[in-house]
Amino acid sequence: MVNCLIIGHGAREHVIGETLVRGGANLFAFMSFKNAGLEDLSKKIKIHSETDFAAILDFSRQNKIDFAVIGPEAPLVVGIVDALEKGGIPCVGPTIEAAQLEGSKIFARNLLEKYKIKSNIESKTFDSMDGIVNYIKDIGEDNIVVKPEGLTGGKGVKVYGDHLFSKKDILEYCQELVDKKNRFLLEEKCIGEEFTLQTFVDGKNVLGSPLVQDHKRAYDDDKGPNTGGMGSYSMEDHLMPFITQIDVNLALEDMKKTVAAVKAETGVEYKGFLYGQFMKTAKGLKLIEFNSRFGDPEAMNVLPLLKGNLVDICLSIINRNLSQNFEFERKATVCKYLAPEGYPVNPKKDEQVIINTEKIKNTGAKYYYASVYREGGLIFTTTSRAMGILGIANSLEEAEIIAEIGVKCIEGKLFHRKDVGTRKLLQKRIDHMNSLLNH
Ligand code: AMP
Ligand code: GLY
Repeated sequence: MVNCLIIGHGAREHVIGETLVRGGANLFAFMSFKNAGLEDLSKKIKIHSETDFAAILDFSRQNKIDFAVIGPEAPLVVGIVDALEKGGIPCVGPTIEAAQLEGSKIFARNLLEKYKIKSNIESKTFDSMDGIVNYIKDIGEDNIVVKPEGLTGGKGVKVYGDHLFSKKDILEYCQELVDKKNRFLLEEKCIGEEFTLQTFVDGKNVLGSPLVQDHKRAYDDDKGPNTGGMGSYSMEDHLMPFITQIDVNLALEDMKKTVAAVKAETGVEYKGFLYGQFMKTAKGLKLIEFNSRFGDPEAMNVLPLLKGNLVDICLSIINRNLSQNFEFERKATVCKYLAPEGYPVNPKKDEQVIINTEKIKNTGAKYYYASVYREGGLIFTTTSRAMGILGIANSLEEAEIIAEIGVKCIEGKLFHRKDVGTRKLLQKRIDHMNSLLNH
């Protein structure tokens, strides 16, 4: 049996851990916060900082870990893979230089520009107010996105029309970043429909998985503040009704070129999972950002559909001999995140969550623990998203119904988006895309 270590504590890591166990792994988990799902799946767990590399190495050696899978971005961008591999533990995840694809938006845009990756967009880096007014004039103020350098947990990016409503707003935000000595990008605003393409990468080969669309806004109908993601869906044909196989091929091609560019530029190979966030626009396919890991919630949409063995896939990533000898079930999925009432502004924490485990088993829905804790056998909320509920079926409609029935098996001061995965919301996305393309 292979001893696999999962690092991280959220629903993404819960589903990665579940998929490794399904592949026959002996699972071990190292996490800064105890995930009840990983606790149940693992032979042994350790609750400790996910960036204390010496402690992770100790735990790995004690438990004869064959390889580690790194779930979240935070340890990746500070070099967890470099530290563990130096200590003799192979990793599924990029080293610090390659993880800059996510860790530094400036690195990523410069790389895409230098290597002429087609889906790249117009952008410019600033560290002072010099030249900003002219750049805004060139691009058009209502066409501006401001992106601070570094990880921002999805909260630092400000888009004209969503968070910024005038030239004054743009300049004030830029000034705020200059004052904080935070470098930033100004880039062209894209208008279209977003999708996520999550891939497996062994340094050279880049293999895709079903497309997923996430929902960032807190409330139904895309209202309310931005969140870490309130739910996501994927379709039985692994595409989106507004994204064709040709689009996917273009996106995959650009991800392959990017992986080659990382090698050419830094000398190191990118390996692990690579997440591409793309937008289809009237001007073609555009790259919004890369993440150096699986998405959360998007990992829950694709990993349960995997027909291959994730342990073997991880070993081929490490051994640089990844080949498309695995498939995904041709089913649709809908993931609904349950979040504490008041999330993300004023979430109710330490509220009990009651999971009717018998009932939910009968519904066919799956559930994943996110930011909840277990005490005395009971589950309680924290300030972040609580649980991911997943429906899988032959059609989107059925998957959505299963997810909703699953949600009803969970009690607590929680809310979720009822519209994620519904035909009505999907139609809105299709109509939006059609109106842009036929304009
Ligand atoms: P990021 O942290 O780069 O994923 O940005 C967060 C969100 O901001 C994305 O998921 C998009 O919805 C939006 N966004 C980022 N960049 C752009 C862009 N250039 N044009 C339009 N929207 C964007
Ligand atoms: N769902 C967005 C992310 O994982 O960053």
